[in-house]
Amino acid sequence: MNRSGEELKKVFIKTYGCQMNVYDSERMTDALAPLGYTPVAAAEAADLILLNTCHIRAKAAEKVYSELGRLRHLKAAAAAEGRVVVVAVAGCVAQAEGTEIVRRAPVVDLVVGPQSYQRLPELVEEAGSGRPVVATDFAVAEKFAVLDRPTATSRASGRVAAFLTVQEGCDKFCTFCVVPYTRGADVSRSVRAIVAEATRRADEGVRELTLIGQNVNAWHGEGPDGSTWDLARLLFRLAEIPGIDRLRYTTSHPLDMNDALIAAHRDLDVLMPYLHLPAQSGSDRVLGAMNRRHSRADYLRLVERIRSARPDIALAGDFIVGFPGESAADFADTLSLVEEAGYAAAFSFKYSPRPGTPAASAEQVPAAVKAERLARLQALLDRQRVAFMRSRVGTVAEVLFERRGRHRGQIVGRSPWLVPVQLTAAPELIGTISRVDIEQAGANSLFGALAGARTAAAAAAVAVSG
Ligand code: 5AD
Ligand code: SF4
Repeated sequence: MNRSGEELKKVFIKTYGCQMNVYDSERMTDALAPLGYTPVAAAEAADLILLNTCHIRAKAAEKVYSELGRLRHLKAAAAAEGRVVVVAVAGCVAQAEGTEIVRRAPVVDLVVGPQSYQRLPELVEEAGSGRPVVATDFAVAEKFAVLDRPTATSRASGRVAAFLTVQEGCDKFCTFCVVPYTRGADVSRSVRAIVAEATRRADEGVRELTLIGQNVNAWHGEGPDGSTWDLARLLFRLAEIPGIDRLRYTTSHPLDMNDALIAAHRDLDVLMPYLHLPAQSGSDRVLGAMNRRHSRADYLRLVERIRSARPDIALAGDFIVGFPGESAADFADTLSLVEEAGYAAAFSFKYSPRPGTPAASAEQVPAAVKAERLARLQALLDRQRVAFMRSRVGTVAEVLFERRGRHRGQIVGRSPWLVPVQLTAAPELIGTISRVDIEQAGANSLFGALAGARTAAAAAAVAVSG
C-alpha cells in the first residue's frame, strides 16, 4: 500500500447477486474500518477494489470477468501515477473458482471466499505486498464469531430497514444450484448472537429487520437454554425487542415451512404479510429431477394453508424454465401452477448449467425454447403483478417511511407487502410508520396520501367513480 498509516485509505465495493452479498459487503466495510479504510462510490478513487460476486447463473459470473478487464486498465493507470491499487474478488465466484481467477485475470491480488471474511484485514495487508493471495477455506463458525463481535462503525447506521444473517449455506442440493458448493453446509447462528445484533440495529434506528439465509426457514439455532429453536420461535423473540416494529425473512424452502411458522403469520402482527417461497417448477417430473423433494400439490396445499393463516399475504416466488428434460407439457404445468398460486412478485430465469452441479451434464433444452418459455412465463407473472398492485388501490396500508423521494416534497416507504409507496409528506416522518390511503398503482410502486389527508384530486375521483 502506498499511503502512510495516518492517511485514510479508500475502499470501493461492488456487490453482485443476493441480499446475503449486500449484507456481507456491509460487514466487510465494517471489518476494514479499523485498517483505516473508508468507503468510496467510485473505483477510480479507491486503494482497494473489492468485487463481491455471484455464481448462481453463468451471466452473473461472466459480469465479474468483464469488470476485471476494466479494472486492469484502471490499475495500470494508477501504477503509472505511482499508486498501488489492490483488487480483490470475494463472494461465490471466489469460492467456486479460487486460483483459476488469478490465472484468468492476473489483475487480481486477492481471492476470498465467503467463509474466510473473518480474515479479511490480514488478507488485504498480505495481498498488498505483491503476491496473489487465495483464501477459500470453509470456516463458517469462525465467520459467525466475527459477525457476532460488535464493531464501532456500522454501515447500517441511519437506516430504517436492515438485513440480518441468521443462517448460511444449504443442505438441500437442488440439482441446478451451486449454493451448497459455494456457501457450504447449512449453519445457523445462535439466538444470543442474533438478538444481540438485532438489538444493536434497533438502537441505531432500524425499525424493520429482514432475516436472511440461503435457506432461512431451515434455521435451527441454539436458544439461551441450550435447546434448539425454530424460526417461528426466533421471530417471536425478536418481536419483543423495543423498536423492532417489523420482521421479514427470506428465502424459504417449501419443505421447511413448519406449522409454527405458518401460525406465526397469523399470530405475530409484526411479521409482515410477504413470503418469498420459490416453487421453481409446476411439473412433478421436473420437481423430482430438480430434487426439490415436494410435489406440485404439496406446494399448492402449502400456499393455501399460508393464505388461510394470513389472507393478505403477498406471495413471491422463483421459477426456472428450460431445466434439462422440461417438455412443453411440463412447462404448461408451471404456467398453471402460477395461475393457481397467484403471485404478487416473482423472479424467473432460464436454466443455466453450473459447473459441478448434477443437472449441468444432462442434455440441455435449446436456447430458443428457453427464451420463448421465459417470455411467456414473464408475461403471465407481469399480469399477476399488475393485478396485485391494482388490488391494493383503495386500501389503507401501514407504511414505514424510509427515505426522501426523487421529487421535492416526496418521501418513500415500504408497504407491508414490500412494495414501495411514494407520497407527498414531511421528511420528519422518515423512520416512523403511518397509515396511507393507497390511491394509485404504478408498475413498481404504489402512490397515496397520509390517511385522513386524502388529496382533493383523489377524493374527487372517488366521488365521480362512486
Ligand atoms: N439456473 C437458473 N436459475 C437458477 N437459480 C438457481 N440456480 C439456477 C441455475 N442454475 C435460481 C433459482 C433460485 C434463484 C436464487 O436463482 O430460481 O431460487
Ligand atoms: Fe439452492 Fe435454494 Fe435448493 Fe439450497 S434450497 S440448493 S439454496 S435452490
